Amino acid sequence: MRVDSYRLLWLVLGMFVMVAAVYSWRVYSAPPIDEAPLDSPAWEGKLVYQRYNCVACHQLYGLGGYMGPDLTNVMGRRDEAVVRAIIRYGTPRMPAMGLTDAETAAVIAFLKQVNRSGTFPVRAPQRVGWGMYDVKPYDP
Ligand code: HEC
Repeated sequence: MRVDSYRLLWLVLGMFVMVAAVYSWRVYSAPPIDEAPLDSPAWEGKLVYQRYNCVACHQLYGLGGYMGPDLTNVMGRRDEAVVRAIIRYGTPRMPAMGLTDAETAAVIAFLKQVNRSGTFPVRAPQRVGWGMYDVKPYDP
C-alpha cells in the first residue's frame, strides 16, 4: 500500500498542533503563586506594612530602605514569636512602632505570604548534571 505523503504530513502537523495546544493549556492554566485574597489577614498585613512605612527601613526582594534587614524570608529564618516580639517591642536598633496585636498578627501573615512567594537573594541555579540544575533553598 502506498502511503499518501500529504496525508502523513497533515497527520504529523496536526499532532504537533494538538501537543502544542495541550502543552499551552497546561502551562497557562497553572494556578498563580499563592496570591492573598483581598479580605485575608495577609492582605490586611500588607496595608499595615504600608501604613507604618516599614519599607522606610526594610526591603522586600531587595527594594526598600537599608537601615534594617531584608524581610522577604524573615518568616523562614526566624521564629514567629521572635518576629512578633521585635515588631511589638522593637530592639535597640529598631523602634517600637506601636502596632496593636491585631496589626502585628496581620503583618506577620503578610510576611509569611511573602516568604512563600520566593527567595531573596535569588539563588543562582547550580548545575548538578547534564542539563540539570538545582536551586538551593535560601540559607543566609
Ligand atoms: C526606623 C527603621 C525601621 C522601621 C521603620 C522598621 N524597622 Fe524593623 N528593623 C529595623 C532594624 C534596624 C532592624 C534590625 C534590628 C536589630 O538587629 O536589632 C529591624 C528588624 C526587624 C525584624 C527582624 C529581622 C531579622 O532579620 O531578624 C523584623 C521582622 C522587622 N524589623 C519588622 C518590621 C516591621 C513589620 C516594620 C513596620 C511595622 C518595621 N520593622 C519597621 C529598623 C526598622
